[in-house]
Amino acid sequence: SALPRSPLTAHVGKHPGEPQVMDPALISDPYGGYGALREQGPVVRGRFMDDSPAWFVTRFEEVRQVLRDPRFANNPVASSLGARPEDSPTVRLLDMLGFPEHLRVYLLGSILNNDAPDHTRLRRLVSRAFTARKITNLRPRVAEIADTLLDRLPEHAEDGVVDLIQHFAYPLPITVICELVGIPEADRPQWRQWGADLVSLQPERLSVSFPAMIDHIHELIRERRGALTDDLLSELIRTHDDDGGRLSDVEMVTMVLTLVLAGHETTAHLIGNGTAALLTHPGQLRLLQDDPDLLPRAVHELMRWCGPVHMTQLRYATEDVELAGTLIRKGDAVQLILVSANHDPRHYTDPERLDLTRHPAGHAENHVGFGHGPHYCLGATLAKQEGEVALGKLLARFPGVALAVPPERLERAQVPGSWRLVSLPLRLS
Ligand code: HEM
Repeated sequence: SALPRSPLTAHVGKHPGEPQVMDPALISDPYGGYGALREQGPVVRGRFMDDSPAWFVTRFEEVRQVLRDPRFANNPVASSLGARPEDSPTVRLLDMLGFPEHLRVYLLGSILNNDAPDHTRLRRLVSRAFTARKITNLRPRVAEIADTLLDRLPEHAEDGVVDLIQHFAYPLPITVICELVGIPEADRPQWRQWGADLVSLQPERLSVSFPAMIDHIHELIRERRGALTDDLLSELIRTHDDDGGRLSDVEMVTMVLTLVLAGHETTAHLIGNGTAALLTHPGQLRLLQDDPDLLPRAVHELMRWCGPVHMTQLRYATEDVELAGTLIRKGDAVQLILVSANHDPRHYTDPERLDLTRHPAGHAENHVGFGHGPHYCLGATLAKQEGEVALGKLLARFPGVALAVPPERLERAQVPGSWRLVSLPLRLS
């Protein structure tokens, strides 16, 4: 589909020779486009969505280096940057997207937009809910939700064709994260719409949805206060009310927003992209069907090969830093390109080949699809588990499942920084 018109596309082409995140060519072919930039150099001067300059970091080693270097800040309005907040690309982008100024704090208050010590405090408050043991305990429930959705899948078929995104890839993670956080079932379709509005980058959708979402969370908190349970929302409320200094009002709302949105949009597309990749690589599919124990390694490789998140948030240099021979000046913005890092031939043999056996069993995290360093994805264990359950159960239930359209007709959403199918039409067998 064509890139939707937006104030962000107006400046594409204004700086010839400098890659632009909103360039339709980079959006429709990120593997080719960012791959070419990676071969041009580890640090390339480009342009962020609002057209301000940003250094694109394209190779595996350098991406990891920046992500664990405390001289790079996530908070665009950190005083250590010594710039006016309104000059920050992140804030300019919010303005261009029509974010009401008084609601800006709800984005800037997020765990992703903060650095130590605020980041450490926020991360500690929620990481208890995402320990490996808690996630393992959740597995039977994830499996149950997947079974229920798969039971119903044939009912959604029209002329024998069913859209996996609509009826499986989305509902599974949104159900899981909403149960974990404590979002009532009746509200979930609304959340899904808000999620879509946010990633659309369309000012007219964002400016309506974002305020509605904030109001809704405040209302949810008011209601839940009267009847606390053991869900994450109740835990956040307890922390806030018992010791206000540990979690502010805004932070509590922002945490709910971040977890629900980060927890379903991305995982849905890991399931979608992963299924599409397997169905277009019959040899790899057969390997997995013959040996379901391969699932964890397979999901690991699918994250590397076709993970749904292609870039991180911007980072800002808090002092002059030399990176791979390039001087990054204090205040400069840096864009980490995960997609080119995950296909870097300096790190992987034959990186374009999908190879489910590539990573040794019990592998360490050797891709950057979930980021790296202190902001490494909080939900990575949950997302991997959901990917394993989803793919494992889909293939076990419908062993003859196949694409219902030729692969070149699969439609991708034209949004920068992420890799998502608009739909995934399948024949179940
Ligand atoms: C952070 C990817 C699923 C919650 C991140 C980052 C990436 C990422 C790349 C780092 C961003 C940066 O450094 O700028 C993904 C992918 C997922 C996924 C590809 C699915 C396949 C989830 C889930 C949750 C979640 C299920 C639910 C809890 C978060 C949070 C952060 C984060 C809270 C911020 C962590 C921090 O700032 O300390 N994710 N994510 N993600 N993710 Fe995920």
